[in-house]
Order: sequence, then structure tokens, then C-alpha cells
Amino acid sequence: MKPINIIGLGYIGLPTALMFAAHGIEIIGTDLNTELVAKLQKNVLTFEEQGLVEVFQKAVAAGIQFQTEYEQTDKYIITVPTPYLKDSKKLDPSYVEQAVKQVLEVCLPGTILVIESTISPGTIDKIVRPLIHKKDLEIGSDIHLVHAPERIIPGNMVHELQYNSRTIGADTSEIGQAVKSWYESFCQGEIVVTDVKTAEMSKVIENTFRDINIAFANELAQMCYKEGMDVYELIQIANRHPRVNILQPGPGVGGHCISVDPWFLVGDYPEIVNIVLAAREVNDSMPTYVFDKMHIIMKEHGIRDYSKVGLYGLTYKENVDDIRESPTLQLLDVFHKYNIENVKIYDPYIQEQYFPGQLHDFQTFLEATELIIVLVAHDEIKEQQNLLQDKIIYDTRHVIHTAKKLYRM
Ligand SMILES: NC(=O)c1ccc[n+]([C@@H]2O[C@H](COP(=O)([O-])OP(=O)(O)OC[C@H]3O[C@@H](n4cnc5c(N)ncnc54)[C@H](O)[C@@H]3O)[C@@H](O)[C@H]2O)c1
Repeated sequence: MKPINIIGLGYIGLPTALMFAAHGIEIIGTDLNTELVAKLQKNVLTFEEQGLVEVFQKAVAAGIQFQTEYEQTDKYIITVPTPYLKDSKKLDPSYVEQAVKQVLEVCLPGTILVIESTISPGTIDKIVRPLIHKKDLEIGSDIHLVHAPERIIPGNMVHELQYNSRTIGADTSEIGQAVKSWYESFCQGEIVVTDVKTAEMSKVIENTFRDINIAFANELAQMCYKEGMDVYELIQIANRHPRVNILQPGPGVGGHCISVDPWFLVGDYPEIVNIVLAAREVNDSMPTYVFDKMHIIMKEHGIRDYSKVGLYGLTYKENVDDIRESPTLQLLDVFHKYNIENVKIYDPYIQEQYFPGQLHDFQTFLEATELIIVLVAHDEIKEQQNLLQDKIIYDTRHVIHTAKKLYRM
């Protein structure tokens, strides 16, 4: 059996490659980023993730290889980025296109080409199949196309790779079953085989479902604030209904999936999607809502100096080091719009200096600030609440219980 070449070794590609290798599948990982590959070749992990070190060690012991070249083989899994185009809100397929083209340069006859990157419904038909026809290759004999989207969540990736159920979309059930058998090496969840388009749509609508439900909680938070009500109590009561499960409000939606994927539907079906667009707009408006409420709190306490305001957390969710599209970044854009550049920022997971006001030590951050806006529920702040007793806290995550004065969403 020939190795699987995994293309793209980021947040999805790397853990997937390591899990395969740690479970006895021969893996070659390819990424264009030479620095990233050099690190991996020196047995250094490129990001932090619970339990990943152990899987990395097993994968290295099993002989996983990392390189910048595409390998000649008959099995590929593409996990390159799929952002959206800012103007049209449609999928930017350029990374996938590039990766497919490079695979087609080297692959062997009978290749199974799996696209694991999240793509909008119809991408394989509209973008990928034409690339194969252009090379005079026959789909179904020279190349078999599969879409196998990923559902894992940063912070719990290793566990979820093992236990989540998965979807595999293929042109024939035979190929679907073949790819299912690869993933069964490490995945104990149910693996459903379907057609390519249903697999494409399922991934995007799962994230859209979450975005819409978060938007509903965010609207509730705004209504409750207006009425002087406690949104958390309200949600807790409503959720006692056996068929109601309202999510928690927050300062916005970030990350590479939930805040991105619904735009694919907005871009592709502008005449149909109303709720999807409205939810995106509600969630995107939350950083401005936090900004406005911060001013009300500042006024109440006579705070005029923004350098006394501290933003706790830069990542898009707790206990990870991924800051992509994070609500804090979105909030900093709002500050920037008003030329406010001197707020203090601190995140225990981020060592790089992205902003002038960024501090790298919790104690220094506490000493420098009077009002702290908790934007990410990292364990650090949850476990050290006693240090917040003389602080004014605006807790957008509902995790702080001790403060001089406590505000919530
Ligand atoms: N991050 C998540 O939580 C998550 C969850 C589910 C699905 N996804 C989807 O998985 C896909 C990958 O996301 P990610 O978070 O791993 O992205 P990422 O940016 O962390 O990693 C992508 C990697 O691909 C590499 N790359 C780009 N073009 C390449 C090419 N032509 N050849 C080889 N390497 C190339 C980049 O250098 C980068 O290292 C996206 O479609 C995303 O929507 C992400």
C-alpha cells in the first residue's frame, strides 16, 4: 500500500496526519511553508493542543515524514485554507485549486483525491472536476474525487478526531468505503458515506446552524440589557423546556469556521438566505456592542484614559493559541476606527507582540488596568478570580464571579 500524502499541515492537516501515522498508516505531510516544515522535521510541534505531543511522538516513531514537495503516490488528502472573498462573500477556492493542480502533476493512475478543506456546495463540480478534465484525465478511473469534511474543535482536537462521527462524500460507494477504511484507522465515531455535494453542504450548514443559534443568544443579551434582565437566568429557565437549547451570548464569533462558512451560503444563494445573513450581521455587530457598553461602564466609573482598560484574551476561544477572526481582533478594529490605540491587551497563549498595548504577564496586566473586559474564558482567569477583587470587570463570557464591580453581557 502506498502512503497518503496530506497536503497542508495547519490546524487540521497536522493533527490528522499525526493521527493516521500514529495508527499505522504511512503518511507523508506536505506544506509549502518551509519554516513550518523545518520545525516539524526537527520534531517541534507548530501549535499547542491538548494531547498532541503524545500523538506527535507516536507518529514520529512510526516514521511520518514532512516535506515541501508533493509526493508521487495514489492517495492525497488536501487540507489547505478556504477563506471567503471579502467582496462577493463567496468561497476563495484558490488554495484548493493550487493544491489540486500540484497533485495532478505527480499523482499515479487510479489516485483517490480527498478534499478535507471546507468548501461551499458545488465546489467540486464547478472548480475541481474541470481541472481534471483539463489535464485529459478521466474521473472515476484516473482520479477518484472525495470530499471528507472535518468537524474537530481546537482545544479538543485529538479527542474529537477519535470520537466524532464523520461524513465522506464520493461519486461511488466503493470509493467512499475505501476512504472510510482509511479514517477507521483512528476514528471510532460513525462514518457516513454519501455523495460529494451532500457532504459539501453538510459541513457548511452545520457551522451555519451554530452561527444562527449564537446570534439568537446575542440578540437575547441585547434585549435583556435593555430591559435590565439577566440573560443567563433567562436562558437557563428557557432551556428547562425539553425541546429548547439556547446557546450562550458572547462578544462575537471568531475562528476559521463558524464566522466564515455561512458567508459561502450568503455568496451562493443571495436570493434565498435571509436568516443566515441576519445571523452573520448580528454576530459581527457584537464587538461594537461591547465597545459601546464599555463606554457606559467607563462613564459610570469616571474612567477617561483608555490605557486603563484591559482586554483579556486575544484568541477566538478558550485555552487555544488561534487568534484568527477572533472577537478581540474585531473589537480592536473598532478601537482602531476611533484612533484608540492604547488599550492594554493580554493573552496567556500569545507571546508574539501584535499590538503596542500588549502585555505578556498577567500580574503586569492587572497592575496596569482598572477596567478589564474578559473576552476569552481561558482557565487562567477562571482559576485566579481572587486577583480580580479590586477590578471593575466586564465579563462577556459569564465566567467571573468576583470583582469590585461586575458587568455582564
Ligand atoms: N481550524 C479549524 O478549527 C477547522 C475545523 C474544521 C475545518 N477546517 C477547515 O480545514 C481547512 C484547513 O484549515 P486550517 O485551520 O488547518 O488552515 P491553516 O491555515 O491552519 O493551515 C493550512 C496550511 O496549508 C498550507 N498550504 C496552503 N496552500 C498550500 C498548498 N498549495 N500546498 C501545500 N500546503 C499549502 C499553509 O501553509 C498552511 O500551513 C479549511 O478549509 C478550514 O475551513 C478548519
